[in-house]
Formats: sequence, structure tokens, C-alpha cells
Amino acid sequence: MKINLKVAEVTGFKTHLLLVPVMNQKKKGPVLTAIDKATDGKMRELMELQGFKADKNHRFNMTGGGKLAAKRVLIMGMASEEKIPVSFQARSLASRINAAARAVGAEDLALVLPEMRGQKAQELIRWMVEGLLLGKYRYSLKTGEKNRKKELKRCTILIPANGKRKKPVIGKEIRKALAQAKGTSSSIMLTRDLVNTPSNRMTPEEFTKVARKVARKRGIKITVLGKTKIDEKGMRMFAAVSSGSGKKPRFVHMKYAPVSGKSMGRICLVGKGITFDSGGLSLKPPASQPDMKSDMAGAATVLGVMDAASSRSLKWEIHGIMPLCENMPDGKSYRPGDILESKLGKTVEITNTDAEGRLILADALAYAGDLNPDIIIDLATLTGACVVALGPYTAGLFSDDDELADALLEAGKSAGEDLWRLPITKSLRKQLNTPVADMKNTGTRWGGAITAALFLKEFVGDNRWAHIDIAGPAFLSEKHGFSPKGASGFGVLTLLEFLEKQSLFKT
Ligand code: BES
Ligand code: MN
Ligand code: ZN
Repeated sequence: MKINLKVAEVTGFKTHLLLVPVMNQKKKGPVLTAIDKATDGKMRELMELQGFKADKNHRFNMTGGGKLAAKRVLIMGMASEEKIPVSFQARSLASRINAAARAVGAEDLALVLPEMRGQKAQELIRWMVEGLLLGKYRYSLKTGEKNRKKELKRCTILIPANGKRKKPVIGKEIRKALAQAKGTSSSIMLTRDLVNTPSNRMTPEEFTKVARKVARKRGIKITVLGKTKIDEKGMRMFAAVSSGSGKKPRFVHMKYAPVSGKSMGRICLVGKGITFDSGGLSLKPPASQPDMKSDMAGAATVLGVMDAASSRSLKWEIHGIMPLCENMPDGKSYRPGDILESKLGKTVEITNTDAEGRLILADALAYAGDLNPDIIIDLATLTGACVVALGPYTAGLFSDDDELADALLEAGKSAGEDLWRLPITKSLRKQLNTPVADMKNTGTRWGGAITAALFLKEFVGDNRWAHIDIAGPAFLSEKHGFSPKGASGFGVLTLLEFLEKQSLFKT
């Protein structure tokens, strides 16, 4: 879809479909006033007749009737809900535009930039463009889909000149917002594609290929470790998890460095990359298995951020660390009862091979620690318990570092992604005690997301560290906001926001 910007009087703009989002109908803004005037009061009359309210699900449709340059007008209600970040509301509204255009067979439309108190034009444009592009995203391997119904091909974002004494100008900030929104959306769609692609196609090797492509395109350094190197580095727990699979493990390490200027610091982003989680010998029940192609969403999010890093010219030295393998039952699998030695030297008794994410992360976190980072953040579809606690739209944030946790919560809020801080309750650590090793890999049912975080904590040493459990929001069982069913790309926006707002966090 082509997206461009224009400043114009809305009534005179020639388009198939003129889309006007409205937030508060009590006060008729300059755009509605202009349309009403041009249609000799028809708009108001029809609106009243149909009982249009400016709330989320209300829409109002009319033809231009020769009085407007647009063939059709669609007014979309948009409720402002205080508790929901405005960026989320704006993207969600824009994501519904595709369906609205399809319904009337419009191939081009003009979206009038809404007025929202306290929001700058560049921010609104960013959110609208992201919503438009991400709302259009679909993943499907259906054959014969080429000649589908008419799709939206062109979208003009109209900055209305109506009611303005001085004609608004499209400045540098606005142009930058448009370019960045396109870039961010494509990075998020990359994450979604990686996660949605089924496990027979998205193997550790295939993921690595995509990572190499990103590295080449963006000029990022990449190192890939195969089985021999993984063993050499002492990542025995990662190797053990991968041992039941016919697919070879891969350990991907990417490094982005700012081209110019001083770096804010060194940050390691570690992402869980289980390309399929069957549970291993502690096999999952059949109903829980199909979605486990999404168990590499942490790694996919990290790759999405690496992809966006250079187009955003981020000021951090960013290491993307992605341990990739499959967790499968086999004669070569690791077993319940096994005691493994981790890269850090600590020993772990395996009580459940389905708690595999924390094992590969433990070695990856130790690897990250060797890089002497200022901050480590890991992302993982780690526990069902976290989804039980917070529901499917909210990620669990764990950190003993208040400043880092606050900065991430703040970033999530402005990115419009929902993060909720959960405690790393020390007194639950005893659940991991075992007489035969330094710890076991599972606790009881109670506080399962917390004991997973306590396990990871054993492997981060003194580093500043945060863990984000994205088991819920990474992969949705139904459409939500600007995400379709399936992979959402959750986390990319929050991390970019965190890395961009340098003022949020000082190392
Ligand atoms: N990948 C799963 C967690 C998961 C569950 C992600 C549901 C997304 C949706 C993880 O490897 C796992 O199996 N965790 C177990 C841990 C348990 C054995 C301690 C779980 O949550 O049941
Ligand atoms: Mn598992
Ligand atoms: Zn898993």
C-alpha cells in the first residue's frame, strides 16, 4: 500500500473514500463543519436520523452527492478511553480502515488526520500509518488467493487546512514520522511472519537465514554458532534441549553499533527461540501443541528490533542474542531426572522437559553476561502461568531493578503495549531446591511465572536485568487492537521506545 501526505481542504479533495475519524461529536470541529456546509446540511441531517454517536463502533456512511470531491464519506467514531494508551487507540482505529475500504471496494482513500488534544501531528501520523499497515497484515499459505476482492492500494493522509488561518506545512518531523512508521511496521511484520510461519518451515536454520538477510541489509554484524561451537562455549543446557530434534540448533548473535556519536551503553536483548515446543519427553497434551510454533516469539521480537535499529539510528550498542532449537521427544532427548551443567557451572536437575525455555535462556544469559553489558533484557514465551495471571494481552515484567522496570513500564505505556510488573518473590526460591543439584528446573503450580523468573535470575550475575514473559500477547487466539489472530509482534514497539527515549534511562 502506498501512503503519502497532503495538506488540503477536505471538501475539495478528490478520492474514492474520505475517511473522517471523530472523537467528540458534541463540538463540531472544522472538518465536520466544512462537510456539513458543502452538503447543505445533509450530513448533519443524516447523522441525526441515523443516531450517530462518536463512539468506538459507530460509523456513518454517505455519498459525496456531487457536493464533495470525494465519492463517499465514512465517519468513524472513536471513543477516547482514558485507561487505554492513545497510541493503541489510534493504531487500532487505523487498523479497521482496511476492512472499511474493502467493504465499499475502495482502492484509494483519504484519511483525515484527527484532532486529539495534546497530540502532535507527527505522533498521530506515526500511529495512523502503523495502524494502516499492521491492520492490513495477514499470514496465509492458501493457494489461489491472488484474485481476491479489491484491496486498498493507496492512502493519502490528509492534514486538513479547514479552519486554520495558516495552511499547515509538512515539516521535517512529520516526514520523519512517516518514514519511521513504515520502517517500524515492516519490522513488526517481519516478527509476525517469523512467528506465524509453521515449525516445519521456520526451523532454527531458516530463522538464521532470515537473520543473515537482515544483517546484510542493515549492515549489522552477525555470528552464528552451530552445534560444535555451542558445545565449545559450554552451553550444555541449550544443547540438551535441542538433542531430541532432527533439526540442528543455531545460536545467533547480532551486534548493532551506532554509526556516529556516543553510544548510550551496551544492551543485550536475549530472545527465547524454541521453533517448536512439543514439551519433549514431558510431552504436552495435543490441544496445547499447535500454537507452540510461536515459542520462538522472543527471538523473533529481538530480530524485529535489530531490523529497526539502524533505520531508527538508535544510540545504543545492541546485541541480539537468539538461541534457536526445537524441543522434541526422541531416543536422543534429554530426560526428566537428568542433571545438567550450565554454561555458568551451576547444576540443574530436570524435573520437566517442558520447562525448556529457562534452560536455553540460562545459557544465553550467561553468554550475554560475558559481553560485559550495561543492561540485559530477555523476552520469552516462558510460562502458561503468566497468561493465567495476566490474561492474553498483558506481558509480565520481572526485574529487581526499579529504575529499569519503571523505564520499561513507561516505554510500554507510550508504545501502547500492556506490561505489568510482577514480583520476583524470594521466598518462592525454595520451590526450586533439590538435594541433588543447585536447583531443579520447575517448582510447584503456584507462582509458576515467578519461579521461572527466579530460575533465570540465577544466571544473570550482578547485571542489571529485566525479564519479559510474553507467553500471552505474542500469539493471539483472536484479533485484538491492531493485531489479527496469530502473531502480534508484541514487544518491538516497547523496546524501540525504550531504546529511543534516552532520557528514560541513564546507565
Ligand atoms: N512455551 C511454554 C509456555 C507457553 C504456554 C507459552 C502457553 C505460550 C502459551 C513453556 O515452554 C512451557 O511449556 N512452560 C510450562 C512450564 C511448566 C512445565 C513448569 C508451562 O507453562 O506449563
Ligand atoms: Mn515448554
Ligand atoms: Zn516453551
